[in-house]
Amino acid sequence: MKKIKPEERLIVALDVPTMAQAAKWLKKLSPVVKHFKVGSELFTAAGPETLKKVNSAGAKVFLDLKFFDIPNTMASALESAAALKPLLVNIHALSGPAAIAHCAQSLKKLKNPPKLLAVTILTSFTEQELKKIGFSGGVEKTVLRLCRMALDAGADGVVASPMEAAKLRREFGDYFLIVTPGVRPAWSAKNDQQRIATPLDAIKNGADYIVVGRPILGAPNPLKAARMVIDEIEEACS
Ligand code: C5P
Repeated sequence: MKKIKPEERLIVALDVPTMAQAAKWLKKLSPVVKHFKVGSELFTAAGPETLKKVNSAGAKVFLDLKFFDIPNTMASALESAAALKPLLVNIHALSGPAAIAHCAQSLKKLKNPPKLLAVTILTSFTEQELKKIGFSGGVEKTVLRLCRMALDAGADGVVASPMEAAKLRREFGDYFLIVTPGVRPAWSAKNDQQRIATPLDAIKNGADYIVVGRPILGAPNPLKAARMVIDEIEEACS
C-alpha cells in the first residue's frame, strides 16, 4: 500500500450546481477533508474558479471531467486542466490506446503534472447494461482488459469499482493508482450505484483513494459522516 495519509485517501464529490453551494461545503468540510472532486455538474456551472476556490481552502482537486474525444482534443483539454493545478485528472479508457498515450505524453512534458486516470467501466453499470451497449465479456473481464490497455499506454492509474480493485491489484501489482467511486458506508443509502463496497473494504481491496459524494453531503451531520469514513479508512490501513 502506498504512503498516503488516511485523511488524504478520502475525496468528497462536490456534486452541487453552484459555486455558492460548493463554497459552503468547502467551509464546512475542509477542516477534515483534504481532497474534493470537481465534476461536470459544478465545472459546467462555475468553471475554473471552482479549482481556485478549493485550492485556496488548502485542499486539492480531482478534476473529474472524463474526457473522451480525438487524441489531440483530449490532450489539449488536459493541458488546460493541468494549468488549474489539480492533483488528479481523468479520461475514458474507451477512448483507446492512441488517445491515452497522447494524453500521457502531453502531461509528462509539464512541470508537476496531475496524475492521469483512465475510467474503466462506470460503477453505475450492471452486467445487463454492459451487454446492451455491445460488450459481451462481462464487467470484470472488461475492466481488467481496459486497465491493462490504459497502463500500457501510460496512464498513472484507473478509476474502477471497489469490487474490481482487489483483482486489479493481484493482476497488475501496486505501482499504479486505483481510485474507487461507488463507495457506500454501511450506514448510507446505495442510490444509483451498483457495484459498491464500504470504505473499509474498498481500501482493503487496494484502492488508493475513495470518492464519496451523497453519503457525506446528504448525511444529517456531514462533518461527522466524513470523520466516520476517515476512521474506517484508518482501520483499513492499520
Ligand atoms: O454520490 P456518490 O458517492 O455516488 O458520487 C460518486 C461520484 O463519483 C459521482 O460524482 C460520480 O460522477 C463519480 N463517478 C462514479 N463512477 C465512475 C467515475 C466517477 O460514480 N466510474
